[in-house]
Amino acid sequence: MRTSDDDVLYIESCRYVEGEVDLPGDKSISHRAIILSSIAKGRSSIRGIQKGKDCLATIGCMRKLGVKIKEENNKLIVDGAGMDGLKEPEDVLNCKNSGTTMRILSGVLAAQRFYSVLTGDSSLRKRPMRRIIDPLSMMGAEILAREGFFPPLSIRGGNLRGINYTLPVASAQVKSCLILAGLYARGKTRIREPFLSRDHTERMLRYMGVKLDKKDLEIEISGGQELQARDLFIPGDISSGAFFAGAAAILKGSCVVLKKVGINPTRSLFLKVLEDMGADVKIHDRKVICEEEVAEVEVRGTGDLKGIRISENLIPQIIDEIPILAVVACFARGKTLIEGAMELRVKETDRIKALVNELGKMGARIEEKKDGMLIQGEGMLKGAQVKSWGDHRIAMALAIAGICARGITRIDNAQCIDISFPGFRNKLFKLVKN
Ligand code: S3P
Repeated sequence: MRTSDDDVLYIESCRYVEGEVDLPGDKSISHRAIILSSIAKGRSSIRGIQKGKDCLATIGCMRKLGVKIKEENNKLIVDGAGMDGLKEPEDVLNCKNSGTTMRILSGVLAAQRFYSVLTGDSSLRKRPMRRIIDPLSMMGAEILAREGFFPPLSIRGGNLRGINYTLPVASAQVKSCLILAGLYARGKTRIREPFLSRDHTERMLRYMGVKLDKKDLEIEISGGQELQARDLFIPGDISSGAFFAGAAAILKGSCVVLKKVGINPTRSLFLKVLEDMGADVKIHDRKVICEEEVAEVEVRGTGDLKGIRISENLIPQIIDEIPILAVVACFARGKTLIEGAMELRVKETDRIKALVNELGKMGARIEEKKDGMLIQGEGMLKGAQVKSWGDHRIAMALAIAGICARGITRIDNAQCIDISFPGFRNKLFKLVKN
């Protein structure tokens, strides 16, 4: 693998991948750790926080809200402001590229009596916010947005009341936003999600002493509870590890071990999918740390992958892994059908369009569907000049496509990888074997 400058990645094909890899801290859990420790009472110390641009944006916003956050001996030390200690920010809060920051933080800001404005980069300013504006307004917050419910959002909150609400789309960001607003509201808030989504907020809140009832797809939370500061550990990000696991599954003779990676059951379905497609997946050393399951995950390529069908009810549990899954599907025998995945169209970019276009340039037989894609595996791809569409997961998926393809692949606009995985190139470079 060669790199000419930070924004262009040249990728050469390799024979197999091999080695152990330490991953950056889980992005979803890192955001929650920063926000929840900021509204907890007392000092939290967080080990393993992710330092991608999205999580740095969350830290920046919490500092502007008056929270003291510093780094000490590789830990993030957060002096929690308590439930009523946040301060009105003097300026707009910039969430940059991070939908998680904007949506989860809105749940907290909707409960503050002060005025705040949340904005982001050109991608985030195109992402749908009605999904949080509607329920938070029902709870009593005043929220304004641009035409079409797009950011910037301006919020004047306070005096929330609990609601009963069924989410129109399964989204852990929206669910978490409403759980946090519910913590500040009068009475009980009941939230129902159509399909199971990641449950890190629920787990971390419990770890910090909050009572919350969860039955299948329903959550009930009573307002007026306090969070206790705790020492937190962030496991490795399985959504980042998925790129290396995908490469190992594709290339026969590969063996990659993901160290200390989070395998929360609402996040690890990708491993089951790889197994069902024919990869050899083993999980060792399972532990529970801070309410989250952590393990070492070993993935070996058998050279015999088959296509798979993924339907709507499973999509939220695999949503961030679909770009790499599409790459794996190109190397499998037979058809892979991904359906009920409309949400892919409103991620950092329209991931359905991006994958169909860019993998198409590499020779994939991939067809766009309204709510997903159909891939006819050909067992190979060829190197091409492709682009990331400014989306970190598209860039990394293309990098894996590149090492598995014949010839050289050039990825333009690859700098966005730093949004969730600074250091990705070097880690990949160490794994590839010729
Ligand atoms: C996330 C939830 C998912 C996911 C995103 C992170 C989270 O988004 O795609 O990368 O941390 O809650 P949605 O909740 O919008 O599906």
